[in-house]
Amino acid sequence: MKHVLKAGQFDKEELLSIMSTAGQMETLLKKGGSKMAEGKILAALFYEPSTRTRLSFETAMLRLGGSVISETDVHFSSITKGEVLEDTIRIVANCADIIAIRSKHIGDADLAASVSGVPVLNAGDGAGAHPTQALLDLYTISKQFGLDKEITVSMVGDLKYGRTVHSLTQALRNFENIKLNFVAPSALAMPAKFKTEADGIYENLTDEILAESDVIYDTRIQSERFENKEEYEKHKNAFIFDVEKVSRMKPNAILMHPLPRVNEITMDVDALPQAKYFEQAANGIPVRMALIARALNLV
Ligand code: NCD
Repeated sequence: MKHVLKAGQFDKEELLSIMSTAGQMETLLKKGGSKMAEGKILAALFYEPSTRTRLSFETAMLRLGGSVISETDVHFSSITKGEVLEDTIRIVANCADIIAIRSKHIGDADLAASVSGVPVLNAGDGAGAHPTQALLDLYTISKQFGLDKEITVSMVGDLKYGRTVHSLTQALRNFENIKLNFVAPSALAMPAKFKTEADGIYENLTDEILAESDVIYDTRIQSERFENKEEYEKHKNAFIFDVEKVSRMKPNAILMHPLPRVNEITMDVDALPQAKYFEQAANGIPVRMALIARALNLV
């Protein structure tokens, strides 16, 4: 079954093929979508806050001609009555042809896949992984630079709890031509299992890093995942991108962010040519169309 559980499950060939399908989906979208998933149902189970990811999954399914059922508040789910996730998934798999799930706990998507009779797409499992975000991030980088150039991607912010950077790192490991820098205070450093000897590891965002980077991937300090609120307070203003800082990036470099932003990018940056985050979010629709179509064996 074509589950999407972690970015590391894809090799380079598969990633390039998904990028190419996403490109075709973008063309389809411009023509108003397709009917290729007519009669198919996506179940969107979102047990953690989400705007972009859930709506872009739902939009993707609707633009493919399919239908959507969703459960968006764990308080109204039988999970609150004590039902284990495995049982919920068995029931949902009887209703739908494909499941997108977001939950609080690392490993929940794997657990769901282990009992599901239909493909499961991991839409974020706690501080674990967010593979569909990684693919739309890769698509955004690919549209800007292609994936065969020597470029530097610098990830900045909460690299410990941020699941998007974990997944994007796994996807980028397939491209030896892409150099990675990780910029975070030591308390929020990228976990060792995602790092290699070749990566640049920094605690401060220096002018050299700003000038060297083709992509800066900024992230939110993940307030909800801190055990100690004081620790969050200490780091919440760690890196703020304002017009002055972004102007020190290369003119053709891009500033990405999975969103939501809190205070880490000032709003006046939005008008700068480097600001890519809204286009990046929009790329979620064709990429998720590609992933749904692939999982349902429609492409
Ligand atoms: C991210 C997430 O949920 O991990 N948001 C998203 O899916 N676009 C990033 C975040 O919440 O900081």
